[in-house]
Amino acid sequence: MSQRDPAAVDSYLRSFILDDESSVQPTFKEGATLTDTISVSGKSITRYINEFWTARQRQAARIHEVSYRACFKPQLPKFFITLLTEPGDLVYDPFAGRGTTPLEAGLLGRRVVANDINPLSRILTIPRFFVPDPKEVKERLQTIPFTPELKAERDLSMFYHPETEAEILSLRTYLLEHEQTGSLDRLDQWIRMVATNRLTGHSPGFFSVYTLPPNQAVSPDRQKKINETRGQQPPYRSTRDIILKKTRNLVKDLTGQEIKNLHEAGVSIHFITGDARNTPAIGDNSVTLTVTSPPFLDIVQYSADNWLRCWFNGIDEEEISSHITKLPRVDDWTDVMQDVFHELFRITKPGGWVAFEVGEVRNRTVMLDEVIVPVGLNAGFSCIGIVVNSQKFTKTANIWGVSNMEIGTNTNRIVLFQK
Ligand SMILES: C[S@@+](CC[C@H](N)C(=O)[O-])C[C@H]1O[C@@H](n2cnc3c(N)ncnc32)[C@H](O)[C@@H]1O
Repeated sequence: MSQRDPAAVDSYLRSFILDDESSVQPTFKEGATLTDTISVSGKSITRYINEFWTARQRQAARIHEVSYRACFKPQLPKFFITLLTEPGDLVYDPFAGRGTTPLEAGLLGRRVVANDINPLSRILTIPRFFVPDPKEVKERLQTIPFTPELKAERDLSMFYHPETEAEILSLRTYLLEHEQTGSLDRLDQWIRMVATNRLTGHSPGFFSVYTLPPNQAVSPDRQKKINETRGQQPPYRSTRDIILKKTRNLVKDLTGQEIKNLHEAGVSIHFITGDARNTPAIGDNSVTLTVTSPPFLDIVQYSADNWLRCWFNGIDEEEISSHITKLPRVDDWTDVMQDVFHELFRITKPGGWVAFEVGEVRNRTVMLDEVIVPVGLNAGFSCIGIVVNSQKFTKTANIWGVSNMEIGTNTNRIVLFQK
């Protein structure tokens, strides 16, 4: 369903009832959504509060299951993509992260443009548009030379068994050499994406000994402490087996049509590694919908959490860190987002949309959704409202009123704008 008219979008949101079972077609009932009006910079803004998507929905495609700090659930972009665009429309994410919006748009037969200042984003996203047959991955893995005596230039012994480390090093050397000579093909890129994702984690499905979940690599010193406390030493893990197993999982539930859609979107994808404020490669009035989530102030350390992933991919983590937007003061953050919105206004089609997700920070003393409303208006957009997805939403929650209900966890706030 695609609703381009703001009145139709308003009534869709007001009467939405999530159909848990199918998750494909929602049902509708007047007044199903809790709404209220808040005043932001002297303007009345509608808030739509409901469980618009949920973890209980039919599971999202497993191809998304690559972890990344502060990623959103695929159901979030899916909700806005199906509501606001048609197949073939151009969908954009200026802060693409692990690529949730680009991949969901591709799965749904939309064209894609994406950007992220961190080169890891591209490394994690692009290969998943070109879904391989696990047999090819197995064959390729067998051809990658293994040099048993290889050791990293930095001490990684707190994470890896020496033999696992040599396997990781062999793979890293192969990938970096092929990258340099421009001969890294789609299978190599797939293997690089999976290996990057498997470097560290909290189960035997990762190359490392038990550590924090994979989107957050701890420092070597912290890992030594974890090992001491748990009385553990890194066991041998077969990198080939792990890469192959994860490959099978990622591709397992894709339909032929989805593989075809992804491929078509992948062939024409425009993936930029740069600052969201300045994207001259994207044409004026070209994007139908942007679905995105920016860094929230300085809450997440995107480069520090990714130091091992950066190392594996030959990326200078400190260099990236200096460019990533990480601003503790709301005023400074707002200035950067203002520039982002001017750029979004330029590239958005007349009648096109921006769904801008912001979280709750500093124990709700800062409401970034309310900060973003005037930012979008200043850029020239109109604000349709704030969509609050509350996974605690139930009929009885209604009677507690909005402020109580917002105390529920897992709340996403999406400010919806139209050009
Ligand atoms: C909240 S995460 C996005 C997560 C994404 N929605 C997902 O599902 O993976 C924010 C992203 O913004 C990127 N970023 C930070 N500052 C940026 C900037 N100035 N321009 C572009 N990207 C930036 C970070 O590298 C990070 O990947």
